[in-house]
Amino acid sequence: MGQSEAPLWTALEEYRAKVRARFHMPGHKGGAGAAGPLVGSLGRGALELDVTELAGLDELHRPTGPIARAQALAAELFGSDLTFFLVNGASAGLVAALLAACPAGAKVILPRHSHRSVVTGLILGDLEPIWIDVSLQPEFDITVGCEPRALLLAIEQAPDEAKAVVLQRPTYEGVIEDIERAVRLAHERDMVVIVDEAHGTHLRFDPQLPPSALEMGADVVVNSLHKTVGGLTQTAMLHVQGSRLDVERVRLALNMMQSTSPSYLLMSSIDLLRRELALEGARMVEDARQAASQVRKLFRERFRLLEARDLLAGYELDYTKVLVLTGSGFRLRDSLARAGVFVEYARPRTVLLIVTHGDGAQDVSQLRQAIYALPDDGEASVPNVPYGRGEVVLSPRRAFEAATREVQLRRAVGEISWAGITLYPPGAYAVLPGQVITEEDVEALLRCLEAGWSAHGILTSGGEPRVRVVRGEDCCPR
Ligand SMILES: Cc1ncc(COP(=O)(O)O)c(C=O)c1O
Repeated sequence: MGQSEAPLWTALEEYRAKVRARFHMPGHKGGAGAAGPLVGSLGRGALELDVTELAGLDELHRPTGPIARAQALAAELFGSDLTFFLVNGASAGLVAALLAACPAGAKVILPRHSHRSVVTGLILGDLEPIWIDVSLQPEFDITVGCEPRALLLAIEQAPDEAKAVVLQRPTYEGVIEDIERAVRLAHERDMVVIVDEAHGTHLRFDPQLPPSALEMGADVVVNSLHKTVGGLTQTAMLHVQGSRLDVERVRLALNMMQSTSPSYLLMSSIDLLRRELALEGARMVEDARQAASQVRKLFRERFRLLEARDLLAGYELDYTKVLVLTGSGFRLRDSLARAGVFVEYARPRTVLLIVTHGDGAQDVSQLRQAIYALPDDGEASVPNVPYGRGEVVLSPRRAFEAATREVQLRRAVGEISWAGITLYPPGAYAVLPGQVITEEDVEALLRCLEAGWSAHGILTSGGEPRVRVVRGEDCCPR
């Protein structure tokens, strides 16, 4: 079996060729019972492949047939010992990795800008975080990674109950932190290193970008396949290497976090993507590089972009993420959308575009016209975004279990946040669950809301913004 094969896709095609009547799930029966507009848009072809586990199609949770073979090919390509296909996004993989690596009560070292799924893992696993402060790129209002000395120090000084380090690399905006020393040090202390590489699947295939986390020795790496390469939305992979982790625990944790009716459309798209990366990876990387370079050039004529030189030593930039500084990110996003150009996200003073090999000459030309037609840009406004530095007194699990009350945001200084506050996009925590809300948090959050940013964890309906906080008697740290 070689990389030019796609065993899962082949098995699915064989099923389609054979099937004459479908007395099985899903209830739309290959599209005959699906809503008309869905059939019109997706076509019968897609709906005929929208099935879940059937005879001859293997089982995601106990694979022995085409899924096992497809996963083995992915492991070979990505350089892992074992690779699992994910249909609930990288989110499910990150939660499962934590559950598999840590017994309840264990401590986990992780940066304060960790994705919310990592915090979900802390809650479900009843784990105690050791939060690491993050470095900022203040002009672009982004976090870039752990404060380097803080991370190494935390690993060095970690108590014996510290079982895992979870790092995010690259960030949403494409900043790639150097994790080599941290991985080495964590391994010396016998900790499992889990890397959230949701935004870095392509690192493995691009020799001009830093190596992938697997190449840097991480024990578990989770890749989204729908962000920087061409998998269908929600597809991802979890890779394991080495012997620090019991892979049967990983399997069980994934079984708990993933649907028992996994979509074969999603899984076969993973198999086809793996084959394409194996056979055409170099061309895909080159196409993405060309497209990104044109997009960057177009924006540079009128805007300032985040460039590699804007980052401190130890951080590199993924050129496929284009972060544009502007007077109002929301205004720029809306102007581009009026011209039919949709971007990944807008924030008060930035807009983020993601470029992949899928962006062709037509897309670049559309963008060119839209940029030329833009009105003059105003001054970049809105002061820096809060990235909570306030003291954290409860673990996310203890905060989740606590009784709560609602208070006005402006009166929340000194209160303990219940579920945390995340600004959307990108969804990183501005205030962590269990964190004492500071005056700076409140001021910055009010400014962000005023600038039109939406926040999860702040109730804005009916007047004054309000937040849920932990009720007094429940606020003692465990
Ligand atoms: C840094 C980071 N990690 C993990 C995830 C979760 O990925 P998924 O959407 O595949 O669940 C995201 C999603 O946006 C992310 O930005």
